Amino acid sequence: MLGLFCYACELLSLCSRSPAFTIPALAAVRRRTSHSPPVFRMRRAGPGRARSAAAGPGRPVRIIWRMITNQSRRTAPAVSSAPCRVTVCRGCCCGDARKVPGVDHAGQIPRLRAALGDAAQVRASECLDVCDQANVVVVQPSAAGRAAGGRPVWLGLVNDDDALADIAAWIRAGGPGLADPPGVLDLYAFTVSRRVGKAVEG
Ligand code: FES
Repeated sequence: MLGLFCYACELLSLCSRSPAFTIPALAAVRRRTSHSPPVFRMRRAGPGRARSAAAGPGRPVRIIWRMITNQSRRTAPAVSSAPCRVTVCRGCCCGDARKVPGVDHAGQIPRLRAALGDAAQVRASECLDVCDQANVVVVQPSAAGRAAGGRPVWLGLVNDDDALADIAAWIRAGGPGLADPPGVLDLYAFTVSRRVGKAVEG
């Protein structure tokens, strides 16, 4: 039995390298059970191989390449469908009739929600640290709008119904990154420092 052990594959006694194949009766088995390892031959460039070389790598490499590229297609990040977000400041000054009289502060958020429906999430926030612009509204882009380059737009002195209607119409059209705001909203837009801007992110 010792003579039937194959030191190459360490498993079978019928390996082509086993002394067992010196027995003529096992010659047929020997032909069927060769343990020669697979050999991946590199294509040689040359006059007769020019077309093959130009066509790309050999079959094993092509298979591995397809596996990699198919995998990356499957894991490609999909664009989220998250809608716009509207932050309405309700801090110490915004929403306070003593600081900004003559405005239906309590009705602003319900009015925006009714006008926007699923087009945006509307939320109230604490003071955003730009009280001189009360009432402050921040429009954050949808996921698609952000992917298209849209950034949060800060609007101040939003103290009339027409401004709310214009904001709602703009967001329904796509909002930042996807639609141009009505020209009149330029009168309300202002910029903030990076520190203040972080207050509405997240
Ligand atoms: S209360 Fe709105 S910015 Fe301060």
